[in-house]
Order: sequence, then C-alpha cells, then structure tokens
Amino acid sequence: MLSITNLSGGYHRGAAIVEGVTLDLGTHRIMSIVGSNGAGKSTLLRAVCGLLPWYTGTIVLDGERIDGQKPHAIVRRGLRMVSEGRGTFPGQTVLENLRIGGYGLGQQEREKRLERELDRFPRLRERTQQVAGMLSGGEQQMLAVARAMMGDPRILVLDEPSQGLAPIIVDQLFELFPRLAASGTQILLVEQDVGRGLEVSDHAVVIEKGRVKLQGASRELLDDPRVQEAFLGLASP
Ligand SMILES: Nc1ncnc2c1ncn2[C@@H]1O[C@H](COP(=O)(O)OP(=O)(O)O)[C@@H](O)[C@H]1O
Ligand SMILES: [Mg+2]
Repeated sequence: MLSITNLSGGYHRGAAIVEGVTLDLGTHRIMSIVGSNGAGKSTLLRAVCGLLPWYTGTIVLDGERIDGQKPHAIVRRGLRMVSEGRGTFPGQTVLENLRIGGYGLGQQEREKRLERELDRFPRLRERTQQVAGMLSGGEQQMLAVARAMMGDPRILVLDEPSQGLAPIIVDQLFELFPRLAASGTQILLVEQDVGRGLEVSDHAVVIEKGRVKLQGASRELLDDPRVQEAFLGLASP
C-alpha cells in the first residue's frame, strides 16, 4: 500500500513541477497516472523512488514513511521502478541482468526466481546468453520488468513501458501487467497513451501541469467527457 499526501517538488528549490499531489494506491491492483507530455508524471515517480532533488509532503509505503529515504532503502522496502528508457545493463547478458535484479538473495532463492521469470518471459529464456544491448526494444523492456520482478516487489512502478515499441509488442506487454498484479505486486503505471492506461488499470489519476486534475475508477474516467475530449480525441456531443 502506497499513499502520497500533498506532495510538491521539482528539480530546483522553489520551482515546483508537481504541486499538492495526493493519491492512494489502496488495494487497487493497477493504478494509472495519465497526462500529456511534460505534465510531471516522471517527476512524481522520481519523488516516490527517492530520486527527486527536493520535495515536500509525505509518502507512506506499507505503514512506513519513505519520504526522505535513499533510493536503495526504498527498494529494500519493496518498491521497484522501471524507468523511462528502461535501463538494463547493455553489456551484460540477459541472465546477468536478472541475477543483478536478485542481488541480496541467497543463491538458491535467486535461481528459483530466475526460473520463474524465464517461465514468465519465454522470449528471454531463448536469449539468456545474449547481451541486453542486442535485444529488440520490446525484449529489453521485458528484461527490465523481469529484472524488477526478481525482487518480488510489493509495488512495481513503470514509467512509460510502451515508449518506442511496436503496437503488437505493446499489446503483449500490457497483457502481462494484470498477471503481475494478480501475483501480488501492485502496479503504479505511467502511460502517455491515456486510453490504454485507463483500460489496463482499475483506478487512475489524471495529472495536468503537475496537479491532480481528476481521479477515480478507470472505467468511469474512460466515459468522462473531459477525458474523452482532452486525451482520447473524442469531441463532446
Ligand atoms: N532533470 C530535470 N531537470 C529540470 N527540469 C526537468 C527535469 N526533468 C523534467 N523536467 C521538467 O519537468 C517538467 C515535467 O517533466 P516530466 O515529469 O518528465 O513530465 P512527463 O513525465 O509527464 O512527460 C517538464 O517541464 C520538464 O521540462
Ligand atoms: Mg515522463
């Protein structure tokens, strides 16, 4: 469970990029944060992961405050992020990347999870000895997700996982998210494709210029004329 209360922050003190954001992941399995380019979605996620130069407000993960904590401490508490642009180690093989994702685990547990991830991502199993940099964009994205899942995170934060991928690969990736969520990992998903983000999630927050514009059940937001007009290219009747 993750809750964010009155979060403001940015890159230079005094110049807030996100302002007064309050949201609660609650028991939702997948929550989408949607909004146009530059709205402050990545900035918000950086704060949650302890990567933003300054912010105020509180962030509570499973009853414990994580605001002000260092990124590695937040990771240890069960939150992992797949950043925009992925961030696998390009010179390391698929297997090495996955093992890095399982650092801190005993060898037996690590190998067990590695098998689990290779079952989950058959395309990666076919390529265990390939270096990550030689994988297709979609395979790299899958590797980045699998590597994060090696830690059995309570919460997985995904920043624009569909960026730069062919539509068919995006479909495959988005089919996976509900399955990850069903295995006990809550997902906080940033998606610029508002329709897709709303379709895959149960709850959603619309961010505009760093502030929460709307939030609610994804299904209801999909039917909301304001969302349809602003993001889905549908004119109000
Ligand atoms: N590293 C940075 N330093 C300064 N400003 C940044 C940095 N990253 C993003 N910004 C600014 O913050 C605003 C929000 O960016 P971002 O959070 O990346 O938006 P989104 O992810 O919604 O597209 C933009 O105006 C952007 O220029
Ligand atoms: Mg972004």
